[in-house]
Amino acid sequence: MKLLLDCADMAEIKEAYGIFPLDGVTTNPSILARTGRPPYEVLGEIRDFIGSEAELHVQVVSEDAAGMIKEADRIGDELGSSTYVKIPVTSEGLRAMKKLHKDGVRITGTAVYTAMQAFLAAKAGASYVAPYVNRIDNLGSDGIVTARNIQTILTQNDCHAEILAASFKNAQQVLALCTCGIGAATLAPSVLKSLVQLDAVTMAVKTFRTDFETLCGQGRDMSNI
Ligand code: G3P
Repeated sequence: MKLLLDCADMAEIKEAYGIFPLDGVTTNPSILARTGRPPYEVLGEIRDFIGSEAELHVQVVSEDAAGMIKEADRIGDELGSSTYVKIPVTSEGLRAMKKLHKDGVRITGTAVYTAMQAFLAAKAGASYVAPYVNRIDNLGSDGIVTARNIQTILTQNDCHAEILAASFKNAQQVLALCTCGIGAATLAPSVLKSLVQLDAVTMAVKTFRTDFETLCGQGRDMSNI
């Protein structure tokens, strides 16, 4: 499973890249809005930092296919043709996806709340489909079950699309999807950090250090005994 960072804040991206084995960055218009900066300026910095090989996903805001296609063209020009263009899976989104797929544009079908949306996006040429796990939960449905259903549908129908699961709020949701072999997950920095912020782990590490220093002396470790 690829692991991406759902973020457009350069400081947070640099911090997360210093620690975690990441495969790229995803953004959406709300995430860009939180930076308060010109979108292409921020996205250009992200692209320069992660490199041309890493995945960068950038969303369109138009609600009609013609507008989405225009935005996709500009996104490719500004950030490179390897950039994934995130298109909401609406009727107009599907119309745009079919055209963009023919033109070789990499597409992520986003705002996926149902398995049927994911299936249609995959058929329309999306490389990724992005179920919003926690937002689905918030609607009283089950985001993990929806994502698992999508995984089954993609496999059973020989679709080339993979899942890029998004909208996680806790480590349990991430683990649940790791175990079923989805293509990728994108996490906000806070959720990513929570994967290794466990009191039990911190306590275990502290105890190891204390025991070692009892044996060898304060400040001693395996490099200076
Ligand atoms: O882009 C989709 C995803 O980032 C949404 O996440 O946390 O706003 O539900 P969230």
